[in-house]
Amino acid sequence: MEDTKKKMLTGFRPTGRLHLGHLHGNIENMIAYQNEYENFFFLVDWHALSTEYLNPKSIKSNLIECLIDLLSLGVDPERTHLYRQSDIPEVSELTLYFSMITPLPWLERCPTYKEQVKELKSRDISTLGFLSYPVLMAADILIVNAEIIPVGEDQLPHLEITREIARRFNYLYGEYFVEPQAMLSHATKVPGIDGRKMSKSYNNAIFLGDDYQTIKGKIRMMVTDPQRIHPTDPGHPDICNVFSFYKIYREAVDIEEIEKRCKEGKIGCTNCKDEIASIIYQSLEGFRTRRKELERNMDYIYQILEKGKNSVREIASRTISDVRKKMGID
Ligand code: TRP
Repeated sequence: MEDTKKKMLTGFRPTGRLHLGHLHGNIENMIAYQNEYENFFFLVDWHALSTEYLNPKSIKSNLIECLIDLLSLGVDPERTHLYRQSDIPEVSELTLYFSMITPLPWLERCPTYKEQVKELKSRDISTLGFLSYPVLMAADILIVNAEIIPVGEDQLPHLEITREIARRFNYLYGEYFVEPQAMLSHATKVPGIDGRKMSKSYNNAIFLGDDYQTIKGKIRMMVTDPQRIHPTDPGHPDICNVFSFYKIYREAVDIEEIEKRCKEGKIGCTNCKDEIASIIYQSLEGFRTRRKELERNMDYIYQILEKGKNSVREIASRTISDVRKKMGID
């Protein structure tokens, strides 16, 4: 890979099989930019450990499923460094150095931290590891000096901490790290079948591997336009969750026509739902075929991880050696 290209990097929590929210969020962006940037795409099993430490064995199997999904979607290991966070021990060393220079209040006042401590009552996350989640994320990014980070809005506070850590390191030991920029995904937010953001933990997701009956069943459960009682009543696509799927799949569908038919009461919600269910299912045809092939070739999957590890460790070990020199502990 050429050195002149800017580096784009994103980490992904290995939560098992992927859903449409993942696809239309960061993944489509990453795939679209595979040629433009030098791409780093990795699965953050150490971050997963910060909440799953009581059941760590599930992380690896989830990670492999996730990796197969990514490859089936078209993440190209020839153009992307595709790897596992825990395969890069240099990241943990950098985390250690960063932890020495990161003031506790930066972490304690981080909004995601405060929120999770309040929300995640089912797990004890009053741990050092969980508090330092953003420090580990800073190390993920700065270990390769990545400049462009495609993330969702929820990750902006973490990215800000990364920038602060880079600045502080540069101030203390001399210029070295670049301050990475967020690239907010322009994908429409994908609603789950209950209208909230699509997420595995909300139990409202349509998975890429779902069969047609499952997708149809899930879409049928969605609330459309509450004012529309009879199929012949005029509908309001602008407030309809199902219509937001039409917007996402606008390339596969005549969206103006559907909008018109809805507003004129010429298509009932059930028909409209079944139509989009089949569009979603068909759009994943290539994904399903590739996944079946890959599942039969697990050796190849492990080879990809090995390749990613080697190429990234080459960069990471250079960073660590520079960092030690900068700090004067070489
Ligand atoms: N915190 C991110 C999330 O929960 C995952 C992540 C870890 C990440 N390291 C990263 C994202 C580095 C971008 C860059 O989604």
